[in-house]
Amino acid sequence: ATSGNVAKTDLGFKAVATSNANQVVVPEGYTAKAFLPWGTPITGSYPAYRADGTNTGAEQEQQVGMHHDGMHFFPIDQKAGGNSSAEGLLVMNHEYINQDALHASGPTAAADNAGVRPADEVRKEIAAHGVSVVHIKQDSEGTWDIVFGSPFNRRITGNTEMDIRGPVRGYNKLITKYSPNATETRGTLNNCSMGPTPWGTYLAAEENWAGYFANGDATQPREQTRLGVGSASRYDWELADSAEDQYVRFNISTVGATAADDYRNEANTYGYMVEIDPFTPESKPQKRTALGRFGHEGVIFAPVKEGQPVVCYSGDDSRFEYIYKFVSAKPYYAATAGGYLLDEGSLYVARFNDDGSGDWLPLDLENADFKAKVDAAVGTTVGDVVAFSGFENQADVLLNTRLAADIAGATTMDRPEWGAVDPNTGQVYFTLTNNSNRGKPGFEGVNAANPNELNNTGHIIRWSEQGNDHAATSFDWDIFVFAGEQGTETVVDGEVIVSLTDDNIFNSPDGLWFDYNGRLWIQTDGSDAAPYQNNMMLAANPETREIKRFFVGPLGCEVTGVVSTPDVKTMFVNIQHPDGNWPDASDPRPRDATVIVTRDDGGVVGA
Ligand code: FEO
Ligand code: CA
Ligand code: CA
Ligand code: CA
Repeated sequence: ATSGNVAKTDLGFKAVATSNANQVVVPEGYTAKAFLPWGTPITGSYPAYRADGTNTGAEQEQQVGMHHDGMHFFPIDQKAGGNSSAEGLLVMNHEYINQDALHASGPTAAADNAGVRPADEVRKEIAAHGVSVVHIKQDSEGTWDIVFGSPFNRRITGNTEMDIRGPVRGYNKLITKYSPNATETRGTLNNCSMGPTPWGTYLAAEENWAGYFANGDATQPREQTRLGVGSASRYDWELADSAEDQYVRFNISTVGATAADDYRNEANTYGYMVEIDPFTPESKPQKRTALGRFGHEGVIFAPVKEGQPVVCYSGDDSRFEYIYKFVSAKPYYAATAGGYLLDEGSLYVARFNDDGSGDWLPLDLENADFKAKVDAAVGTTVGDVVAFSGFENQADVLLNTRLAADIAGATTMDRPEWGAVDPNTGQVYFTLTNNSNRGKPGFEGVNAANPNELNNTGHIIRWSEQGNDHAATSFDWDIFVFAGEQGTETVVDGEVIVSLTDDNIFNSPDGLWFDYNGRLWIQTDGSDAAPYQNNMMLAANPETREIKRFFVGPLGCEVTGVVSTPDVKTMFVNIQHPDGNWPDASDPRPRDATVIVTRDDGGVVGA
């Protein structure tokens, strides 16, 4: 496939060197400026950020959260068909937290406090998670600022009320004391990447949510084991010094009451893609269960066509997990499109064949092939489940998406992170960040799509759907590039197409985004030791596979989350978990922040 747009994807900047400085590095002729750091007041009474860590939980609920991740810029006039590059809604995820930085003197451990954690510390931690919607605007000088008092400014947290939608809605395995009819839940957690929908909403992914729940029971149900729920939780929220359900719910043990009286099913209300309508501030977020339940890294939509189904792709970022595709049952029409399109459809999982072909395997009990595989699997060991007992219904399939994908015969991948669709060719790209267990004794060996044993540095795979139809059930794949040290080669048909140099060595590709012209942006979350130094962002020309380092982050961070204005003249890049005093050297606390990158001559970023 030829783009016809090659000039637009040329990389016109001078590559930057690796760096271990505690600052952002961008090419000559560019400027980078930190924006919206953790704690910035954006709503309510706009409580000021306090550098001594004494902001309360209620204040954090009105401030930008921590650990910025995936984000999208919605032009303010998008609903009216506009394309503003001067004003819009910047929506971003807050994946997790740095407890030491969040509190005045670090977190109070339950072990040091009679077995409980102060409830307001927990409230603040829950509030530092979730999503921020920030109305931003450029002034006459081109400087971006928050629109104070805008009705669009909003925080969604780990405690915001949400609806369950799609096939899992109403399923008895989601009954909780909060929602006896299994239709609602509270909060979204560990929101890693995201995806803007074709109808102007935002889907936030729930990735490593399993770690927020504690289940001390001797045995756990299969809905929990494969996803990593443990006996203790990551931040001990269930040990809050309060009997309020909003904290108690993180204890999902079955000891005591019945499902209708406790929160044993709370974790079954997590693991989804969550739809947020940033243009409707009073709207309730919707968990779209038809897209499956797993460690969702993010989602990427294929370009939509009138009368055709909506198609989106989602990776499950865990070692040896899978890549999925959802195809809506109902056709897309711009005039009536909405989140309901995500409630009915087919979920597929990818099998990458050795010959460069691939197949989308349906995870649907109404599909005869899948049903036959499920029936044959009953009584056998599937994944971590001994004596698999079958699925009750399609809701049960979706609740246990990973098990269903095992049964279908999908290809285990080296941690699928972000996906991106080339606007010029329709090819789909996915980062496979690394998998240090690939081929180790006791673990699965290599396959054609994941060909490196002990894959510490990762690679980027891509495919073309059959007939360039995103709803097709087969595809052709190849590896776009292998990451690694200087001299790492990507060979196609016996020819070295890429050999990495000082200008582009990188490891552990994670964030991935095609800008509106078709340049591919690659962000890293990997080793920050030599030779790579701090994590970075590179740009690639998908046609030629030329790759150049564009941006290097400060100490300790990962670089994750990138989007631009429609004219690609302002780029927003997120810095997550910096560990030094960044962006303000005089502030004792590191603060996650968005970095605004512009070209000094006002030109297109990357060109
Ligand atoms: Fe949250 Fe897979 O990175
Ligand atoms: Ca990631
Ligand atoms: Ca990562
Ligand atoms: Ca991260």
